[in-house]
Parts: sequence; structure tokens; C-alpha cells
Amino acid sequence: MNFEELVKSRHSAVNFLENEQMTEEDFKNIFELTKTAPSAYNLQFTNYLVITNKDKKEKVKELSYHQYKIHTASAVVIVMGNKNSIEMPEAEKIYGPLKMLKIMDEVDYETTMNMIKGYSDGLKGEQGALNLELSLNAGLHAMLFMLSAKHYGFDTCPMHVHNVDELRKEFNIPDHLEPVMMITVGKSVDKVRARGYRKPVGEFVNFNGY
Ligand SMILES: Cc1cc2nc3c(=O)[nH]c(=O)nc-3n(C[C@H](O)[C@H](O)[C@H](O)COP(=O)(O)O)c2cc1C
Repeated sequence: MNFEELVKSRHSAVNFLENEQMTEEDFKNIFELTKTAPSAYNLQFTNYLVITNKDKKEKVKELSYHQYKIHTASAVVIVMGNKNSIEMPEAEKIYGPLKMLKIMDEVDYETTMNMIKGYSDGLKGEQGALNLELSLNAGLHAMLFMLSAKHYGFDTCPMHVHNVDELRKEFNIPDHLEPVMMITVGKSVDKVRARGYRKPVGEFVNFNGY
């Protein structure tokens, strides 16, 4: 399937074939592609909680207005933004090895660290800014997850997360991980939702100003 076919064949699954299992290998393949997603300063904000256990999936279903496709999906994946990603030790983990291997020189490294510190302080100083940044980064990541899943023959449906406090308690999600959305994944039933109306390109794209 070429890229155009891949993009066009992704639909939000109406429902999934029950009892289709996804293996750890399936998820590993999908995440190996997903991890190439871009992120601000390459800080890689996105974490995933993959829930394949039937009883645990039912718990998510209960907390998500009983959407049936959570029951039939092979897994429901909680997409989370990691607030610790903007802390300097995390940045050092990503950039330190580049300095050590001399891919990045000392000056470049220090400049980058200073820029990240300024970015981090800015996000902490403005109400809601960090959550917005997490959603921005996790949203891009999640889209790539869905395309990667399709590439490996799996269908998806993006969903909002609901009852986040209860979800946290149920799955021991630590405070620094902010659930942003979730994705059901598995093998779609034959019925494919017709592509919903899309605005013509001219309606949502402007060149060189309004
Ligand atoms: C943030 C978000 C939340 C969504 N929540 C749901 C949902 O709860 N249930 C559902 O069936 N689809 C949900 N969708 C899927 C949209 O309905 C779907 O993407 C849209 O109708 C376009 O269809 P397509 O993805 O098949 O092109 C959601 C999509 C997004 C991006």
C-alpha cells in the first residue's frame, strides 16, 4: 500500500471483530514507526498505556460512556503527555549522548540546553500552556500511531478520554502523565463508515495571508 492508499484507507472503525488478539510484536512494530514522530526540541512527550486485558478494557468502557467498540477492540490505548519531558534531566538524557559521541559540540549542547530551559520555564509560567503543549505533541504522535497501525493491518478509532481521575486510580497512572486521548485498535468489522464530508481545500487553506 503506498502512502496515499494508506492515508485514504484509514477510517475510524465503526466496530471491531471480537476476539482478534494483537501480540506484543504487533505493538512493537507499530511503536517502532510511531517513535519517529516529531516533538518540540525532540523531547518526546508521548507515553502510551496499552490495555489488552479483557476485564481492564471493560473498566475503560465503563468510564467512557460504555462505547461498545472498547469491548470488541483488541486493545484500548491511552495516549498521555509526559509533564516530566520538559525537566532538564530528561533533556540531558536525550542530548547528553550526542555530546558524548561528539555528534554535538560543547557549545551547541549548552546553547540547546539553555533554549530548552527557557522553553520549559515559559510553559511552567503560563496557565494551561503545558497541557496545550502536551496535547499538541501527543496529537501528532497519535496520528502516526494510527497510520502505523494501518500499515500493519490494524484499524483504529481515536476517542476522547473521560473520567480521567477514575482512570488514573484504576490504572495507577502517575501524576506526571496526562491522558490526552485514547485509541481503540484491532481488526475492523467489514462495515466501514463512509468518509464524512470534508471541506474543500480552498475553504480551509489560505496562501500568503487572509
Ligand atoms: C479527539 C477525537 C475524539 C473522537 N471521539 C470519538 C468517539 O468517542 N467515538 C467514535 O466513534 N469516534 C470518535 N472520533 C472519530 C471521529 O468521529 C472521526 O475521526 C470523524 O468522524 C472522521 O471520520 P474518519 O476518522 O473515519 O475519517 C474521535 C476523533 C477525534 C479526533
